[in-house]
Amino acid sequence: MAKRDPYADKAPPPSFTEARNSRQKVRAAGMNPNYWYAVELDKNVGKEEVVEVVFWKRSIALFRDVHGELHAIENRCAHRQLKLTTGHVDGCNLVCPYHGWAYDGEGKVVDIPHSLFGRKFPKFQVPSMPVQVRYGLIWIFMGDAERQHEASIPEIPELEGPDRWTCVPVDATWTAHHSMIIDNVSDFTHAYLHRRYEPFKDAELTGFEVQGDTVELEYDTQVGAGKVSSLFVDRESVDTNQMKLAYEYPYQRSNTDDQIKHWLFVLPIDERTTRSFYLFYFKALKVPFTRFRIPRPVMTPFMHAANKLLVGKILDEDRVAVEAEQEGYEMHWDAPLAELNPVVKAFQDLTIRKWEEHLAETGGLAQLKTKKKTESSANA
Ligand code: FES
Ligand SMILES: [Fe+2]
Repeated sequence: MAKRDPYADKAPPPSFTEARNSRQKVRAAGMNPNYWYAVELDKNVGKEEVVEVVFWKRSIALFRDVHGELHAIENRCAHRQLKLTTGHVDGCNLVCPYHGWAYDGEGKVVDIPHSLFGRKFPKFQVPSMPVQVRYGLIWIFMGDAERQHEASIPEIPELEGPDRWTCVPVDATWTAHHSMIIDNVSDFTHAYLHRRYEPFKDAELTGFEVQGDTVELEYDTQVGAGKVSSLFVDRESVDTNQMKLAYEYPYQRSNTDDQIKHWLFVLPIDERTTRSFYLFYFKALKVPFTRFRIPRPVMTPFMHAANKLLVGKILDEDRVAVEAEQEGYEMHWDAPLAELNPVVKAFQDLTIRKWEEHLAETGGLAQLKTKKKTESSANA
């Protein structure tokens, strides 16, 4: 007998406008596109290469031309709507594989290698997005291009200049809504999950504050006290008893005694898929079993190893839990709310408010409300 699909008779979670409580809302919310979003590791796009990146269900062809310059254009041929990422980069242009139409970095069709049937060269164009590279990441401004200067990529002075701290970006794509990932990284009540590596433990929330679009919070906790992490963190010279964190929409960061820091940049792909880019950076790490600092020249290979052996393992524990949370949510989205940590509510409220702001600006909220009204009057 065929196995019964346990989800077969369960309605899918509600959309943002159908949602009845804040949890249902936050798990359906997108992210406001009027920010710079990290979309790919710089090293992953070589010269004359193209990759597909997705921001909230919108596919983008990201390509690097022969001169090394990056371009982001809508991933759609204006002719028959093929994904342009199925084509290739030729010099400065991205060429569609079907009829060979070539697009420049602004998304303009600049070459059509077949008959124009006596017409003059047509003006076809797909939208393009501003692109920047910083901290080893490629960033795209997904919103209204005229507003690109209103937002900026976070300033991380430690990662710039000749004396910069070592940092090897880590990225991962998880089957989970972006709000679950933001909850996960700032809510230290899940020390239980990491009881093997103990990246933090005995966390007490000592305060939090919401200011504008930022939630700041602070924990008294034992940072890096686990058997593996304490080998590398010099707990005598770094005060590892407190950690400050923030959800600085749409980014998240932490700081331990100005010595151990991280940023997390999420790329919302859809309601159940999120790519995360983590930058972990340390002023200094020590050689295990000694008090000597790891010399700068070997920090990079060391960080690669640490990412694999420690950070990767901890993140994998989070991945398993958060993906299971997504699965649980899809099955039980109507279960009663049960949340104890007040900062989780603060993050969720911020995510909801920013998405509502975006919908209000684009008319999305009004349109959806009218649609709902029309539907309910039609059903009356
Ligand atoms: S479909 Fe792209 S060139 Fe025709
Ligand atoms: Fe975690």
